Amino acid sequence: MAQGALVLKAVGQIYGHTFELENALIGGIAIDKTGSSLPEETLKLAKASDAVLLGAVGDPKFDDPKIKERPENGLLAIRKELNLFANLRPVKVYDELVDGTVFKPEVIRGADFIFVRELTGGLYFGRPKKRWETATMRKSVDSMCYNDREIGRIVRIGFELARSRRKKLTSVDKANVLESSRLWRQVAVEVARDYPDVTLEHMLVDTCAMRILLTPRDFDVLVTENTFGDILTDEASMLAGSMGMLASASLSGIPQPGARTFGLYEPIHGSAPDIAGKDVANPIATILSVAMLLHFSLGLEREAAAVEKAVSSVLKAGHRTRDIIGASNNPVGTSEMGHLVIKALEG
Ligand code: IPM
Ligand code: MG
Repeated sequence: MAQGALVLKAVGQIYGHTFELENALIGGIAIDKTGSSLPEETLKLAKASDAVLLGAVGDPKFDDPKIKERPENGLLAIRKELNLFANLRPVKVYDELVDGTVFKPEVIRGADFIFVRELTGGLYFGRPKKRWETATMRKSVDSMCYNDREIGRIVRIGFELARSRRKKLTSVDKANVLESSRLWRQVAVEVARDYPDVTLEHMLVDTCAMRILLTPRDFDVLVTENTFGDILTDEASMLAGSMGMLASASLSGIPQPGARTFGLYEPIHGSAPDIAGKDVANPIATILSVAMLLHFSLGLEREAAAVEKAVSSVLKAGHRTRDIIGASNNPVGTSEMGHLVIKALEG
C-alpha cells in the first residue's frame, strides 16, 4: 500500500494533479481498534471518495472457525455496501517474466485476458448461510443464489469489455450440475443478442481450470460467478509469474471510456502474513491497481498508461522481487521496487 500511494503521489507531481489521500481502517486492524471489521467511519469516507485503494486483509490470529468477526467480513461488506458487483482482474503475461514461470514459454507467451468476476452474489452472499445442529449431526449450508438481473448486468460488462478488445467472451459456469449456472447460461445467451459483434462461448468451470493452463492464449474476456472467479484468478495469476502481479478493479457499472466510475482497487493477493513487514512483498499488483484507479475512476488515461509502462520498463531492466525470481537471485525489496517504478515514471 505504501508503494502504491507513493506511485500515486509521484503521478500527481509529474502530471500536475493533487490527489487527496485519506487513510481508513478495515479488516484485522479495524477489529483490534474498533471492534468492527468495517467501521462506519471507513464506509462513510469510502462513499465520499472518488475511488478506494485497498490493502489486503487477513491474519492467522483470526483463523479460529468459532470467531464471528473476521477481517474478511470487512472486505465482503465494503464490496456489498458499495454495490461493487463487477470485479475486473486482468491477467497479462509479461514477456520478461515468461522464463521465470513453471510453464513452457511457448504455451504462455503473449497470453493476455481479463476476468470479470461477479462480486456481490453467489456462494459468498446467498441465503441461507448457516450452521446448525440436529440430535445426531452438525450441519451447514451456503447457497449459490443468482437472479436474472444480477447475471444480466455482470454478463453485460463482459460483453462491453470484449467489444473493446478481441471480441470474444467466455462465460464460465457449471451448467451440467448447478441450477444457478443453467440460469446464468440462459441469461448470457439473451444478453448476447445485443452484442452480435462479440463471439460468446460457454465453458464449464472445471474445463476452464484446465484450459487456462493448456491454451491460455485462447482467452480474451471471461465472465463468471463469484466463487469460480476467486479460484480461477489465483490459478491464472501463476501464468503471470506470481499473485503479486495481478491487480483488480471492483466497479458498480459498465466502465465507459473517458468517463469516471467510482471503484475500489486492490491486488488479488492476500495479506501474506508470513512475509509482512519484511520488505520482500511484490508491490506491483498494488501499483497496477493504482493504474486501474487512474484509468477507471479518475479518467486519467495518459497517467494510467504511464504507470503500466513504468512497471514494464522496470521488469525489462531486469529488476525482480523475490516472488518472481527466487530468494537466491539477488531480488529487490518492496520499497526498492516502488522506488524503481517511480524513477521510471519520472523518465
Ligand atoms: C480475493 C480474496 C477474497 C475473496 C478473500 C480475502 C475474502 O481471496 O479478493 O480474491 O475471496 O474474494
Ligand atoms: Mg481470492
